[in-house]
Amino acid sequence: MQMHDLASVAESFFAPGKGILAADESVHTAVERLSVRGIATSAEMRRQYRDLFFGAEGIERYLSGVILFSDSLQDKGDDGKLFPDSLAARGILPGVKVDLGTEPISASSTELITQGLLDLPERLAEYKKQGSVFTKWRAVIRIDGDLLPTAGAIHENVKRLAIYAKEAQNAGMVPILEPEVLYEGRHSRQRARRVMADALSTLFAVLDEHAVDLTGVLLKTAMALSGHESGKADTPDEVAEDTVAVLLENVPAQVAGVVFLSGGQTPDQATCHLEAIVRRARSAGAPWPLTFSYARALQDEALDIWKGKPENVPAAREAFLRRLALVSAALK
Ligand code: 13P
Repeated sequence: MQMHDLASVAESFFAPGKGILAADESVHTAVERLSVRGIATSAEMRRQYRDLFFGAEGIERYLSGVILFSDSLQDKGDDGKLFPDSLAARGILPGVKVDLGTEPISASSTELITQGLLDLPERLAEYKKQGSVFTKWRAVIRIDGDLLPTAGAIHENVKRLAIYAKEAQNAGMVPILEPEVLYEGRHSRQRARRVMADALSTLFAVLDEHAVDLTGVLLKTAMALSGHESGKADTPDEVAEDTVAVLLENVPAQVAGVVFLSGGQTPDQATCHLEAIVRRARSAGAPWPLTFSYARALQDEALDIWKGKPENVPAAREAFLRRLALVSAALK
C-alpha cells in the first residue's frame, strides 16, 4: 500500500460522529472482565462476549473501526460470518492489537515494557491475510510520585513503538501508537500532564529518527487526569484544558488523528471529558481530528446487563448502542 493510501485509511476513522471500539482485550484481560461479573470464561463465552458487541444491529452508525484481539480474527459471530468480514460488510474497518503484552522492565521494577517485535513482520502478514487493515501497539507508562516513570522506560517503550510503526506501515497497515499514561495512582493532573509531555515529545523525536511517516499514523492517548486514587475530581474543563494543551505542545500537525482511551474512567466521565476536549480543541484550532477509541467505557454497562445470559443480549446491546450514541454526540 502506498503512503497516501495509509493516510486515507487513517483519515477514514474520523467520519463525523464515528470512532473506534477497542475490543482487543487479551485472553487474560477478557477472562478478568468476565470473571468479575461471574460469567464463565471458556473460549465459547469469550466468543459470545465479542459477538455481543460486534453483532449489535446499527453499530455502523457510530463505529468507523474495531480493534480486535488476534484470536478474534478467526472467530465467527452467531450469523456464521468471520468477525472481520461481518464488520467490513457494514463499513467498519477491522484492525488488530499486535503487541504481545507487557512485562517488568527488570526484576526489581514495577515499570512495564511492551513485547512483540521479534516475529512482528510474520504476524503482520498473517493478520493482513485475515482481513486486518490497521493495527495497535500499547505501551504502558506508570506514574509513581516523582520516581516513575524513568526516562529509560519511556525511551525503551517509544523506541519499540517506532519500530512497530515502521513495520506496520511497511506491511500496508495503519499503526495506532498508544503510549498509555496510566490513570492509576495518587498523582495530580499537572503531574499527569508533565508525564504525557515527556512521553509524547520523546515518542515524536524517536519516530522522526526512524523516519515514520506521520500522515499514516494515529496517536492513541490518555486524557490529562488527576490519579484515580488522588481523591481529586477534575472538572471537564480542567481535563480539556490540560489535555488539549499537552497535545498541541507535543503532537505534530502531520499526525493523521488523535484517539482517546477511556483508561478506567466511568462511561459518563469518558463521555463528558471527550465532549469538553473536542470543544476545546476546536476553539484552539487543533490541526488533527479527534475521536474515541474506548474499551471499558463502551462495554462496561452492556457487560453488567448481559451476565453471560442469552436472554439478556437484547437489553445489553441496547445499553451499548445508547452509550455509543452518547459518545458519538460528544464529538459534535
Ligand atoms: P480502555 O478504553 O478501557 O482504556 O481501553 C482502551 C485500550 O485500547 C487499552 O489498550
